[in-house]
Amino acid sequence: MIRDPKDLKRYNASERVNHWIVGISFILLALSGLSFFHPAFFPLNQLFGGPVWARILHPFVGVVMAVAFFIIFFRFRKLNVMHASDWEWLKRSHEMVNGDDHNMPEQGKYNGGQKMLFWVLGLCMLGMTVSGILIWRAYFGFDITLVRLGAVAHAAVAAVMIGLIMVHVYAAIWVKGTVRAMWYGTVTRAWAKQHHRAWYRQVTGK
Ligand code: HEM
Repeated sequence: MIRDPKDLKRYNASERVNHWIVGISFILLALSGLSFFHPAFFPLNQLFGGPVWARILHPFVGVVMAVAFFIIFFRFRKLNVMHASDWEWLKRSHEMVNGDDHNMPEQGKYNGGQKMLFWVLGLCMLGMTVSGILIWRAYFGFDITLVRLGAVAHAAVAAVMIGLIMVHVYAAIWVKGTVRAMWYGTVTRAWAKQHHRAWYRQVTGK
């Protein structure tokens, strides 16, 4: 990948490490969680050293993801506050998906879609953490009714989150030049001008 000294800084190293701790733990949790969910996915437990190890490790990785997520959540929350232009962006997003982004309102560091995803992921993460604690029977989970309700909620919210993260990853790949923002920390000026013009003006003063 060619990097230009004129590229714009989007994430510092600590933000990127924080994000990838969340991303990697999410993948590990999804794979081990699916192995408990349905017999078709059961062989996935072999990635973790068998079913017993998968069952032991899953909640500890969950704690790592929850802590890392809430750190990133508090770091980025102000940047994700919704403004009028973000609602307008959402209203017009179907035009952009159909290939015409000429009428899209200028966006700051994040667009309306990214911001909505941020808040919904925050809610899901809260749901996963609370329900996860309820069903962690090695240390908690003393009330069987709460364990049962927690197990249903945990699986339902996990299904929503897996869908949302697929959208997140797809969008990052679809908008060319985005993944390198989380990889190297920088984006090209052309990318910023095209997708986040208000942020481009703010960081370049142009
Ligand atoms: C595992 C594959 C993942 C990939 C390839 C990926 C990729 C990316 C990329 C490229 C960005 C930068 C977007 C931009 O600057 O415009 C980003 C931002 C972000 N990602 Fe991920 N991500 C992944 C997983 C996750 C997971 C599992 C979560 C949380 C559950 C997450 C939460 C976030 C958040 C909060 C941001 C900042 C956006 C905002 O604050 O609105 N990511 N991701």
